[in-house]
Amino acid sequence: MRKVSDTLKQAAKFIQLGNVVAFPTETVYGLGADASNEQACQKIFKIKKRPSINPLIVHVATMRQAKTIGEFNADALKLSNIFWPGPLSIVVPLKSGANITRSVLAGLTSVALRIPSHNIALELIRKSGTAVAAPSANPSGYISSTTLEHVKEHFSDEKDVFILGDNLNDCKCQYGIESTIVDTTTNNLTILRDGFITKEALEEVLGKKLDKTPSLMQIKAPGMMNKHYSPKVRVRLNAESLEVNEVGLNFANSKLEGKFSLNLSLTGDLIEAASNLFANLRILDNYAELNGLAIAVASIPEIGIGVAINDRLKRAAIK
Ligand code: TXA
Ligand code: MG
Repeated sequence: MRKVSDTLKQAAKFIQLGNVVAFPTETVYGLGADASNEQACQKIFKIKKRPSINPLIVHVATMRQAKTIGEFNADALKLSNIFWPGPLSIVVPLKSGANITRSVLAGLTSVALRIPSHNIALELIRKSGTAVAAPSANPSGYISSTTLEHVKEHFSDEKDVFILGDNLNDCKCQYGIESTIVDTTTNNLTILRDGFITKEALEEVLGKKLDKTPSLMQIKAPGMMNKHYSPKVRVRLNAESLEVNEVGLNFANSKLEGKFSLNLSLTGDLIEAASNLFANLRILDNYAELNGLAIAVASIPEIGIGVAINDRLKRAAIK
């Protein structure tokens, strides 16, 4: 068996040569390329079929590296001090002269930065010697990938993609839901995407209230497209029982019982529910598609990380 460091070295080489690497993070798998290399980043857009108006998050390994790319005001510094490395992306003004290629920014003068906490992600960025632009590793609009198998299902035939995870013990996405995105470029800080780090946790660190997350109808970031995380079949939310043509996604003691159902967390633990969300949706989607069915989802409490879970579910239900 190859040594872990050899596999990582090979993946880093792939990035340096202008190719794409799928790698685990603590949130979801990313599809990464050298953020300074235009051709390399264009490969990501092509492979994912991602609209070019949707900018990418830039992943770095250290605060020092982050400061070569973005301008950090006092709030951005506070947030990065407390939450990095970890599941928070901070949108800051792009620093003049930053070595970030244009497709990553999609025409914006700001950049979303994140230091992930997953060891493999960090080691890949360090070994590549460059910032790594990476969206979630799924075809644009589909459910994000939280396991190696999900990634392989989509990208194992792509010759330009090296998939990290085989031979590595530590390829789990601990949280299973994407990073929270906070915009620090306006007077009032705004959450652009709910994620594992809650509004309350951010407000406590900042010592002030944050602007409400833009509703589904108000698109602030180009990438905040309403329809997203979309299974192939129809999704019905806040279901109390199953129709005959449905499979069910339960939470805690909800009773969606019928042909087939799964439970996000039997004990009603929202953190466990988030980590199971995308994998469960994929299983139900495949089963439902095969059998001409739809998915019904029980209601999830709108508290803590339940807010991020409900955001993903609402987008999944848009047809
Ligand atoms: O957890 C995550 O954030 C994962 C892992 C791989 O790090 N990445 C991820 O990337 O979810 P993606 O591309 O699926 O979502 C990134 C979101 C998009 O909605 C995009 O529009 C937004 O971040 N974004 C990127 N740069 C931005 C910017 N400068 N201003 C506002 N939004 C930005
Ligand atoms: Mg995504």
